Amino acid sequence: METKSVSKLALFFFCISLLIGPEFTQCSVTYDKKALLINGKRRILLSGSIHYPRSTPDMWEDLITKAKDAGLDVIDTYVFWNVHEPSQGVYDFQDRYDIVRFIKTVQKVGLYVHLRIGPYVCSEWNFGGFPVWLKFVPGISFRTDNEPFKVAMQKFTQKIVGMMKNEHLFESQGGPIILSQIENEYGPTEKRLGQAGEAYLKWAAGMAVGLNTGVPWVMCKQDDAPDPVINACNGFYCDTFLPNKPYKPLLWTEAWSGWFTLFGGPQNHRPAQDLAFAVARFIQRGGSLINYYMFHGGTNFGRTAGGPFITTSYDYDAPIDEYGLPREPKYSHLKELHKAIKMCEQALVSSDPTTTTLGSFQEAHVFSSGKGNCAAFLANYDSNSAAKVVFNGMHYNLPPWSISILPDCKNVVFNTAKVGTPTSHSRMLSTTIQPHSWETYGEDVSALEDSSTFTSVGLLEQINVTRDNSDYLWYITSVDISPSESFLRGGEKPTLAMQSRGHAVHVFINGVLSGSAYGSRSNMRIRFSGPVNLNAGTNRIALLSIAVGLPNSGVHFENWNIGVLGPVVLHGLDQRSKDLTWQKWTYKVGLKGESMNIASANGVSSVEWIPASLVTQGQQPLRWYKAYFDAPEVFANIQEYTDKQNAKLAAVNQLSDGTMCPDPG
Ligand code: GAL
Repeated sequence: METKSVSKLALFFFCISLLIGPEFTQCSVTYDKKALLINGKRRILLSGSIHYPRSTPDMWEDLITKAKDAGLDVIDTYVFWNVHEPSQGVYDFQDRYDIVRFIKTVQKVGLYVHLRIGPYVCSEWNFGGFPVWLKFVPGISFRTDNEPFKVAMQKFTQKIVGMMKNEHLFESQGGPIILSQIENEYGPTEKRLGQAGEAYLKWAAGMAVGLNTGVPWVMCKQDDAPDPVINACNGFYCDTFLPNKPYKPLLWTEAWSGWFTLFGGPQNHRPAQDLAFAVARFIQRGGSLINYYMFHGGTNFGRTAGGPFITTSYDYDAPIDEYGLPREPKYSHLKELHKAIKMCEQALVSSDPTTTTLGSFQEAHVFSSGKGNCAAFLANYDSNSAAKVVFNGMHYNLPPWSISILPDCKNVVFNTAKVGTPTSHSRMLSTTIQPHSWETYGEDVSALEDSSTFTSVGLLEQINVTRDNSDYLWYITSVDISPSESFLRGGEKPTLAMQSRGHAVHVFINGVLSGSAYGSRSNMRIRFSGPVNLNAGTNRIALLSIAVGLPNSGVHFENWNIGVLGPVVLHGLDQRSKDLTWQKWTYKVGLKGESMNIASANGVSSVEWIPASLVTQGQQPLRWYKAYFDAPEVFANIQEYTDKQNAKLAAVNQLSDGTMCPDPG
């Protein structure tokens, strides 16, 4: 059942009129053990995550419309604190961060919103969504019973709720927001923190409920969510999950439609059949809200990815791909599944399932309200073999690992394992960037010191220095080499050995790249050891340490260190090894190209670019590259594309006929 924008408008006036009418009723969202109730009506809700900063405002309406066409009722988004409050007390709600515009777009298209405020979000997002300035608030400790943290979290949560209320966006005010989330998967962290975790959990739930939004709050992966907050499941399957009270509904806030990608890692895929099977399996248990995480994953623009090592693409193998195109057959298969589920909605919301065994690995789940509503789900859990079963005296063939949906308890309208031929919606056109159009600008690594550099004794932790204003931090020191060293006369070269807490490092000796090393998501620490070319006299050692996105999860991830933490030692000198750890180091935050803003459209010409073809191998390897290309034409559909191609071809043919040439006489 779709929520049309017209009916939404009508609903709004309906609520107002009831408010001033004789029988005092309010727009409301409540819940019971079966489902969420929107204005008194139980609903089976199909939802999908689309995170507003992961696409451009130009894309939003199209993405949301595609989600609606696929049969979704709800769009789910986190709120990303660090993009909204980049410095303490300075707010940004413009362009991709215009959350009010995003929610109003969902409303315009005619869908509901689940607003996951967090404000901790995880989400492969830098620092799990927390602004980096938060780490430097005196006495702070994240996500625990800590006053400075609670004050900051409450202030931001109140700000967001206040903005939504001012714009009348909660359903209780006639708006589209039917559900909100506080915190995110806090359960496992709470267990690690013990009493302080329990106290914080109670505080967070109470704080949220006290904001009186008029719509329910959820906490995902939170078995002890305090009333009236609903605990919800996240996972690839939610087959054994139960609400913590018998009067709460069965909600699945993250049904993972695929998975994210790590630099150097595989592109993960989740087959449409398996996803549909998991969803149908949850519905047949009595589940009433399922949110696909993600329905459109999109892009981690700029430096928003966190983890670390998460790629800029957040495609996620979602039903709508990174570029906003339906991913087939996933998109169409889920659309058919949703149609089948919606055909069962009446039976699903008005009765509890009865389960009967049809075979060793086969079951029937039947919803029958006794008022003529009957829906059945026939499941085959055997992943290898199809099964023939008898249900209500009729024969059914169930493919392996599948569920058949019978909205009238007789006729199969959908089987999760049978993928139909999708109608082709769109096609990607490629555009070529000519190899000779690339230009390059080399970072000058020979003269790093300028007015922004400073010196300190010993090695400093990276985030303390950069405050995450850049991924890059230069650690620069020098070493004097005596002309009598034997390696200068053909002996074995000395070796530089260093350790870093991550995430990657390039070693430059006298302005020349000497080696690189990087960690991984499971082991961020780096050990570097390699021979170095040193000259008699003063040599400069410059270590470029790189953060590849800050951590987004883990107990007290605010205390995790990164950067070169030593020891840094030169081995193989005549006398002995030379420990450089505690000598004077000069620090420089960021690259020159960054400070000149050359990656932005208006900063590109501020340096001297040279054709990339003139750069020979072995030249300074730290380079920026740029090229221009023409954006390909956009066609509304394949027919329009074909018509235009044919018209172009006809024009060319006419020209070659000579019939269109101007008369020479
Ligand atoms: C969940 C988390 C999400 C996201 C997901 C993996 O545990 O709640 O925010 O990180 O994992 O994509």
